Amino acid sequence: MSHSQKTSQTFDRYDCWRPAYEGYALFAWTIGFGYVTWLYLTHRLPLSWCSILWTLTAAFLIKRSYETLKVLTARASLSGSKVTFMTFEELAKIMRGHPNDLWLGIGFRWWPEHSQKLYELMKLDWTKLLLPKWLSNLLLPNQALPDEAAGLPIIHGVSDIDESIFRPLKNFEGGLCLCGTTQAGKGVYLSHLVAQAIARGDIVIVIDPKHSSRLKDNILHACRACNRDDPLTFHPAFPDTGVRLDPMHSFTNATEIASRIRQAFPPNMDESFANFAWMAVNAIAQGLIALEIRPTLPLIAKYVKLGIYDLLEPLLERHARNHADHDWQKNYTELREKAGRPPMPSVSEKLMVLVALYETELHAIAPDPAIDGLIEVFRHNREHYSKITASLLPILSMLTTGKLADSLSPSITDPHDTRPVMNLEKVINGGHVLYIGLDSMPNPTVASTLAGIWLADLANIAGRRYNLGLSALNSKRISLFIDEVSNVINVPLIEILNKGAESGIQTTCAMQTIADLAHRMGSVEAAHVVLGNLNNLIALRTKDQMTQNFVVETLGNTYIANQSLTINNRASDNLSPDYHSGLSRQMNTELEPILPPEFLGKLPNCEAIVQVSAGYIYKTRCPILVNQKG
Ligand SMILES: Nc1ncnc2c1ncn2[C@@H]1O[C@H](COP(=O)(O)OP(=O)(O)OP(=O)(O)O)[C@@H](O)[C@H]1O
Ligand SMILES: [Mg+2]
Repeated sequence: MSHSQKTSQTFDRYDCWRPAYEGYALFAWTIGFGYVTWLYLTHRLPLSWCSILWTLTAAFLIKRSYETLKVLTARASLSGSKVTFMTFEELAKIMRGHPNDLWLGIGFRWWPEHSQKLYELMKLDWTKLLLPKWLSNLLLPNQALPDEAAGLPIIHGVSDIDESIFRPLKNFEGGLCLCGTTQAGKGVYLSHLVAQAIARGDIVIVIDPKHSSRLKDNILHACRACNRDDPLTFHPAFPDTGVRLDPMHSFTNATEIASRIRQAFPPNMDESFANFAWMAVNAIAQGLIALEIRPTLPLIAKYVKLGIYDLLEPLLERHARNHADHDWQKNYTELREKAGRPPMPSVSEKLMVLVALYETELHAIAPDPAIDGLIEVFRHNREHYSKITASLLPILSMLTTGKLADSLSPSITDPHDTRPVMNLEKVINGGHVLYIGLDSMPNPTVASTLAGIWLADLANIAGRRYNLGLSALNSKRISLFIDEVSNVINVPLIEILNKGAESGIQTTCAMQTIADLAHRMGSVEAAHVVLGNLNNLIALRTKDQMTQNFVVETLGNTYIANQSLTINNRASDNLSPDYHSGLSRQMNTELEPILPPEFLGKLPNCEAIVQVSAGYIYKTRCPILVNQKG
């Protein structure tokens, strides 16, 4: 007869997940202690003997209590934690002793031991290990995760440590990515990170494409809790409140203006079309600057729509006055012939002659980059020009008409509009908190264009700060937060992520899935370029496989031990007493993901696995920030 049995050694290795046998000993020692007390009270034993016995029983009683509590707490922890709440004052108190750190929530550092425990729990019916709710609630500071809540409690439950997690702020200069499915807690985490930036006194810029009123309210409460001025707000759907925010105000050259307007180009625009459109906008901006007119969105939209003739003519006239012979008009007829056919019937003969004068004579002696750019557009095939500009005009007219026009291109002389006139440079110089809410759901094109234009503006500011040597060390830090980043990601944001650290911009990007990011960027590789620029990761519940794979890859692998026990019993079939028995224990290790990917889809709301500071992994939960508890 032969019998072999294999069994997982979970209970051996983690002897905390078992009945609390020490409780029996604890009970016996309690009776012993009581019995000694009874002996003393009934004068059956002298005080000296009783003292010795009390010391002995009390020592064992304490030892066994500790052991029983350890087992029960470990099992109670498996019930997880209900979502908790925290006020802005409580957060400020936590941060008081940590001015140079970022608070990442409550939890514990994740070690291979925790991965091992989770792998072991996967093999068990862990619900049998849970203590009754009343006992768990008695043993733990927080109530257990309720049955109706989303997610599994055991992920946070593999440790009974639940303490504040801090990491040095410096580590977050390389960007922070916050990813999680809808309702997983991105807004809750983002509110904490924004509130901390406000409490630190940073310049804070929040771009919220979905316009979450909770996030907006939290920013207001955080400012008030820290005695900072109320945040400046901008929202295209509420043009009567908040500030007017001019995205074209600050620039050092025309190319910056053109790069901002490029964000309004349709995303599927052919590269050669986009390059020409950029060149045309750049020429218009340069022409306006040469005429000492400030380029604004409506002016640029006007010249894109009507053509550049009204810009080119005064510039050429001025140039001819300054550089041509005073009697240049004697060659008028010759120049008119050289000028060729006008691109449009409405183009004046005077302009044609001036163009010919510049091209044939003046360009050689006094070239002017502003005129060169405009003439290139002037000479461009009219049909091609119209095709290109036709694709730009719808979005440009949306930005330059109606209430949005007043908010984006403010007129300081308008006596009826009392809203403050701001621009990003003013926000930064004034050390303000700015909340930009957009309407990505009803109007995704306008939302992503607006966010794109401001990000391009901010990238230009970052470039200027970089050139001036301004960083978080010698000037105020700029904390930039972008929710639903896949709605607004663009080249300037990648530039900010790339070079932000040197110019004192610390960026946090929240997103639902990498698939969304890949869709917006055009390819998975392009999405990974963005993610490669974000050095830190807070991963909330995520169901998308591409996102899960990214998180699992970021967290890395660890060795997971698999132990098996083999018991052999053998008795021969004949009558002779021949019985063999053997026990062998085998342990092998395999490299496995630090967090099994399927658990990423089972994280409860507001719980995350965090990878920061290159190699520090934490399991955290984030209390919901509220103005008042209750
Ligand atoms: N102030 C609050 N009071 C109660 N529950 C809240 C509060 N703020 C957030 N929650 C809850 O926390 C969970 C996470 O909400 P959050 O707004 O962070 O989701 P999200 O990940 O940003 O989702 P979405 O992608 O839809 O924006 C939700 O279940 C939400 O109901
Ligand atoms: Mg949200």
